[in-house]
Amino acid sequence: MAVKKTSKRSNKSWQGRLTADADAQTAAMLASLDADFALWRYDIVASIAHAEMLGECKLISRADLAKIKSGLKSVAGDLESGKLKLRIELEDIHMVIEKALIDRIGDVGGKLHTGRSRNDQVATDLRLWARDAEDNLKDAIAAMQEALVAKAEQYSHVVMPAYTHLQRAQPILAGHALLAYAEMLQRDFDRLDDARRRTDVCPLGSGAVAGTSLPIDRKATAQALGFTDISRNSIDATSDRDFLAELCFACAMIGVHLSRWAEDWIIYSSVEFGAIELDDAYCTSSSMMPQKKNADTLELIRGKSAAAIAQLTGILTLIKGLPLAYNRDLQDDKRFAFATVAAIHQALGVAAGIVATTEFNESRIAAGLDAGFLDATALAEYITAKGIPFRSAHQIVGKLVARADKQGKTLAEIPPADLQAACDKIAPDVAKHLGAANVVKRYSPEGSAGAKQLRKQLAFWKKKLG
Ligand code: ARG
Repeated sequence: MAVKKTSKRSNKSWQGRLTADADAQTAAMLASLDADFALWRYDIVASIAHAEMLGECKLISRADLAKIKSGLKSVAGDLESGKLKLRIELEDIHMVIEKALIDRIGDVGGKLHTGRSRNDQVATDLRLWARDAEDNLKDAIAAMQEALVAKAEQYSHVVMPAYTHLQRAQPILAGHALLAYAEMLQRDFDRLDDARRRTDVCPLGSGAVAGTSLPIDRKATAQALGFTDISRNSIDATSDRDFLAELCFACAMIGVHLSRWAEDWIIYSSVEFGAIELDDAYCTSSSMMPQKKNADTLELIRGKSAAAIAQLTGILTLIKGLPLAYNRDLQDDKRFAFATVAAIHQALGVAAGIVATTEFNESRIAAGLDAGFLDATALAEYITAKGIPFRSAHQIVGKLVARADKQGKTLAEIPPADLQAACDKIAPDVAKHLGAANVVKRYSPEGSAGAKQLRKQLAFWKKKLG
């Protein structure tokens, strides 16, 4: 393919050094406007803070500061209304804004970039964006947790099977299962909180790589932008994207947690399980099979974790092996981070709606509760409490289960004489230990799947979520 070149380089701020323009294909590669347009509000805010600091430090006059500020505000107005023409040959949102400013207020606009490089500028904008993203994700997590807690309370009385290996294990209260997801999401919430502390450091004033010889006041801009601290090292500050990688990891982990929940509920909503009924609003049908009610939203949420994991891998790979300091590779960091935050935020929002509208099929769950010997462990524990070593009790019950299974009986249906024959410690009071509902009543330590533990968990979450 022929490389087209034009000789004039009229629009770029570095026209002093370079004399040839990129051809269209190259310009498209250099541009990131499609992605970093999303940063425009942060860029305006950070530029105003920077200009005010330049004014305070007497690096620009009060009159110039006033022009720059009103110019930036008018550019912001045109960005908001969509009136500003976005020319990709300007490369990115930072250059679009600066060019628009100079077009409006003339040469004075060229003073805004005093003591600043696009490298510390973009690092600052990204941190401002990431801080908001972290806060918004935390809100979305809390909303999903609220939905889970409300459902857990609504179905706090329902006894259902817990599964390990997707085989029936022990009876639990439905609320206990719902709150397991609230726990996972709380770790994600705390992770975002923790990542936010490291995001909340201002790199502005680090310049291109080495800082600046001009007497700027970094603490002033940091404070104006609500950062709790300023970075210590200009080389690291301009090229550090750990905060984005951490945010991407938090998103991937949320995605993985949501995928586990979605998988559970896809299974529970099947005809075979019939444990829950999803609201029609979250399902789709088939273009061919008229009876179909598919849990497509759950499947899409499960699928979103794939992209979140891919984007985490992407940003780590982008950073890997980069020499100090800023390298243009980093321009693509946004493509990973922006996409993953948007997708996970959406997934959390839809998930909260699904939880809020799903009903548990209580009669169907109750009807199937006798299958699968959910009370076998409880029987072994009953025998153990009478002084038999647990390993022996386990064997005794294992044999009873094998026999009952052959006869199509539950443990409660075994005649008392047969139970006595299997173990002479088994007394008539065993009846109160058999059957899923009885078992759930007896769970003892904190964190178990019984009613008093569930009450405690519900109280904890209600207090936590306010
Ligand atoms: N659009 C660029 C980015 O997002 C801005 C930084 C460009 N810096 C440079 N030295 N070319 O990374």
